[in-house]
Amino acid sequence: MLKPKYHILVCTSSRATGQQKGFCHTKGGVDLMQNFLLEVEERELGSEVMVSNTGCLGLCEQGPIVVVYPDNVWYGKVSVADISVIMDEHIENGQPVERLLLR
Ligand code: FES
Repeated sequence: MLKPKYHILVCTSSRATGQQKGFCHTKGGVDLMQNFLLEVEERELGSEVMVSNTGCLGLCEQGPIVVVYPDNVWYGKVSVADISVIMDEHIENGQPVERLLLR
């Protein structure tokens, strides 16, 4: 994979020091990240979809935050139960999930 078709960024409140501190971390951000990785693997999309964790994205009260590039789509209050919907509708069919959008 030179450049991914989609890059999914999941806020896990990771600091530059490696320390995890912040709201998304306490709201299940790490679990979310791990489940996105599993979902991408199970769908055999690893050659076109990259998943990365991030530090605070500045919208803690809306967390956990998930951002999908290159679409610049920001999702808020994402749960593990939302992952399959994001994968089905957005990643596999190009349609952002309206009910989770941050505007
Ligand atoms: S810790 Fe995730 S947006 Fe602040």
